[in-house]
Amino acid sequence: MVHLFVPGPVNVHPDVLAAMTQPMLPHRSTEFETIFHRAENKTRKVFYSQHRVFLTASTGTGLQEAAVRNFVDGSMLACVNGAFGKRWYTVASANGKQVDKLETDPHQPITSELVTDALEGKDYDIVTVVHNETSTGLMNPIQEIAAAVHSISPKTLVCVDAVSSLAGAKLEMDTWGLDMVLASSQKCLALPPGLGLAAVNDRALARAEHVPNRGWYFDFLRLEKHRLKDSTPATPAIPLIYALDAQLDRIQEEGLENRFARHSAMAARTRAWAVERGFTLCVADSCCSQTVTSIDHGSKVNFKALNSFLIERGMRIANGYGETKDIVFRIGHMGETQLSQLEELLAAMDDYFDQVGLTLG
Ligand SMILES: Cc1ncc(COP(=O)(O)O)c(C=O)c1O
Repeated sequence: MVHLFVPGPVNVHPDVLAAMTQPMLPHRSTEFETIFHRAENKTRKVFYSQHRVFLTASTGTGLQEAAVRNFVDGSMLACVNGAFGKRWYTVASANGKQVDKLETDPHQPITSELVTDALEGKDYDIVTVVHNETSTGLMNPIQEIAAAVHSISPKTLVCVDAVSSLAGAKLEMDTWGLDMVLASSQKCLALPPGLGLAAVNDRALARAEHVPNRGWYFDFLRLEKHRLKDSTPATPAIPLIYALDAQLDRIQEEGLENRFARHSAMAARTRAWAVERGFTLCVADSCCSQTVTSIDHGSKVNFKALNSFLIERGMRIANGYGETKDIVFRIGHMGETQLSQLEELLAAMDDYFDQVGLTLG
């Protein structure tokens, strides 16, 4: 088995894989509804929310689309400082929504000051922002951004993409006043891909009632009607619901705070290693991701050769995203990955760099 130090999909624990092989149940049966109900209740804790969580047979991008279809009748603001913030902007445009962009350098966070300025004199239905930009390994200060939105434009909903942070870095939906938080299963939750998770608060759901053309599959009002019966409008991804149910028990057993601390320790260790080796970190400590680290090697590393070396040793990392693919590599340290496994990866990378005689600086 290869250990995936990539920012998703990540390795799934064997017990969770085993849970997926349980026999199928009819989804409109009391037995399945009991499991669905239990899984949804446990999921809320990960979002730090008392509100509902929709579990969809989709990935996170589907829920970016759901946000714009359910909440935007007038216009919206998309915060963009990386590929996934940009994707939300593109998804909104593709759905015919009137969308403004607040764009910063991909190595700089979206700040509450920038958001405040962008909201001046505007009346947006929603602001979209990514918590953890997987493309660059940057974390945006969501709590401050949400506070700024609520203070200057109280009716505007705050919608957050936590695809690569949920269950890896703390995000307190209700306390921070977030109206919708979306995530995918294949990152810090350490589940296979294919399950979307969207926590939606009451005020956001009430807003959807006044938005026409919400579509069908991701219509939150339809999803809510079924959720109240512990079900979904269409067939759920039953094996993934089994897996979620099992994995959330494992997460609870570890404890969320311990899980966040483990992710944060791995981020700190990766960053210290990169600096020791003479690499440049793509973002400052003040806004660095807890779940993925981007390291700039300035084209000095033959990424393919490095990864082949690692794969032979049962490990694998990711290259840079988009334009940075040849100058950056990314180390994902999320999900079930332990510090001791990360140490093995860093030692193997040291071996490789010593072997090829890499000198930096
Ligand atoms: C921050 C972020 N948002 C959205 C997405 C898209 O998620 P999915 O591939 O689950 O649709 C990703 C995928 O890597 C991501 O990292």
